[in-house]
Amino acid sequence: MDGRFSDQATLFGSLPSIEPKVDLGTARSRACAASGAAHFRFIDLFAGIGGFRIALSAIGGRCVFTSEWDKHSQATYKAWFGHQPHGDINAIEPADIPDHDILAAGFPCQPFSLAGVSKKNSLGHAHGFKCRRQGNLFFRICDIAATKRPGILLLENVKNLRSHDGGKTWAVITSELDSLGYDVHSQIIDARGWVPQHRERIFLVCFDRKRYGKSVAFQFPKSPKKGPVLASILERDVDSKYVLSQHLWDYLQAYAEKHRKAGNGFGFGLVGPSDVARTLSARYHKDGSEILIKRGGGRPRRLTPRECARLMGYSEKIAKRFGFRDGFPNVVSDTQAYRQFGNSVVPVVVEAIAKQIAPIIKPMRYCDKRAELFA
Ligand SMILES: C[S@@+](CC[C@H](N)C(=O)[O-])C[C@H]1O[C@@H](n2cnc3c(N)ncnc32)[C@H](O)[C@@H]1O
Repeated sequence: MDGRFSDQATLFGSLPSIEPKVDLGTARSRACAASGAAHFRFIDLFAGIGGFRIALSAIGGRCVFTSEWDKHSQATYKAWFGHQPHGDINAIEPADIPDHDILAAGFPCQPFSLAGVSKKNSLGHAHGFKCRRQGNLFFRICDIAATKRPGILLLENVKNLRSHDGGKTWAVITSELDSLGYDVHSQIIDARGWVPQHRERIFLVCFDRKRYGKSVAFQFPKSPKKGPVLASILERDVDSKYVLSQHLWDYLQAYAEKHRKAGNGFGFGLVGPSDVARTLSARYHKDGSEILIKRGGGRPRRLTPRECARLMGYSEKIAKRFGFRDGFPNVVSDTQAYRQFGNSVVPVVVEAIAKQIAPIIKPMRYCDKRAELFA
């Protein structure tokens, strides 16, 4: 091993049937399809359970590198896509990451702690910029972008990234990307048009100005007007273990009542088949309070992991593309499955964005037979 990471394209060469290919209608994509080559290459950072991977594969991309350090998410990722992700992104040299056209990342949002920086400056510990960078995962993305120069960055985060830390986080992020030479487009998108869940997330699509010019005519997708309701994701026969205990149900009702009296809106979300759910969170495993399913007059139940998969758009239809006839298999505990879905992106939303990128993308050189030799 020469220290470079193996190219997953090699691995997927042995599993051609699970990488979906979509003809985008362009001469290039037709040529690629004819030669069996991918239309473009991407890397999947902070990969979780591969929401970006599913979406970018659907428009003809080939994943050439993945990083995810959580062992449970790694297990799911391996079971679903046949690949063991690399671990801590901070332990990976950017130069060792294979060349790629799109860098995809739903990165954890950490404060940049500008206050801490000025305190250090006042104590004579200069280099605020360096300080600010330390251990911050956003800057790891910047380091990889600066080294590998992918033409496009596709980033995702929680809706309040813009207002986080009084707007400072957003200012740092956009000015960093701009100074790296990327033209930044951003939009908050609610997944509600695609799945029966209100889930607002901010997406950033950034184009390398050197490759794509100063202003790219990119537009975010329009959300479908009428989204589905919960009836489309609920299972028929649900194990009684998902029904809330009387103790928990009493507690949640008392808690909601206390907050109602105090004028706060906090409380459980009780929904039925014709409703739309609140945002599924990574803490759903704790009490399930944000999405409780009505059961006649009795105690409500939580969603099953399978229902969470569907609620996040990891549908049986998509699973089939990856060779699974009966949905994506659950290879972790229910607790981990809830965490993984609650942390994830909705692949169909990313796919809609990816379809807007598809006509614009200028792949590096991968349809070139000689380039395939270098890959
Ligand atoms: C918000 S989730 C992203 C989920 C992903 N987009 C998906 O579709 O499932 C962020 C992920 O980053 C991972 N992570 C956090 N720090 C990391 C690091 N230093 N190296 C690699 N992965 C990391 C977490 O384990 C978590 O799964």
